[in-house]
Amino acid sequence: MIALIGFMGAGKSTLAKNLGQKLNMPVYEVDQIVYEITDLSNMQQVFDKGGEEYLRASELAALEAIAKNPDGIIDCGAGLITYEPSKDKLVEMAKKIIYLDIDFDLARERVGDDKNRPLFADASEAEERYHMRLPLYRRVATDVLPVHGQSIDDLVMEAMDIVYED
Ligand code: S3P
Repeated sequence: MIALIGFMGAGKSTLAKNLGQKLNMPVYEVDQIVYEITDLSNMQQVFDKGGEEYLRASELAALEAIAKNPDGIIDCGAGLITYEPSKDKLVEMAKKIIYLDIDFDLARERVGDDKNRPLFADASEAEERYHMRLPLYRRVATDVLPVHGQSIDDLVMEAMDIVYED
């Protein structure tokens, strides 16, 4: 498995889709699998039902489900690695963990006021979260892919270089 991690707005989902096409591999979107497992249809509902704790437990269940499938690209929710059991599971499952490293300001510009990202609702709290997570992303990543506004084609090429290097 190849996993994409990084903060909200880093472009994990777009890269996962494009990389999946290029490599002819399935894409596993953890957020979507969480909706299937919980029988809910958006993040606000997940938070309303059981808060962040419920989301983190559901993400672990999603990873366990993904592990039974053929190798593919895992598009991780930005906070998944903050939950130790999920972080450990991801490390066990993924040959490469690519960290999409984006500046907070660019992430904020991209996310805007997306209603389906409850943890980005307050920009200063989101910035605090961003800084708390940076060391976690760096520690768990096998590779870092800086995101600075390059085209999706360039991002895919850079990711392919990472995938094919030893
Ligand atoms: C979250 C990120 C979101 C989603 C949820 C919580 C976080 O995923 O899992 O809103 O903790 O940062 P994306 O990274 O796909 O936006």
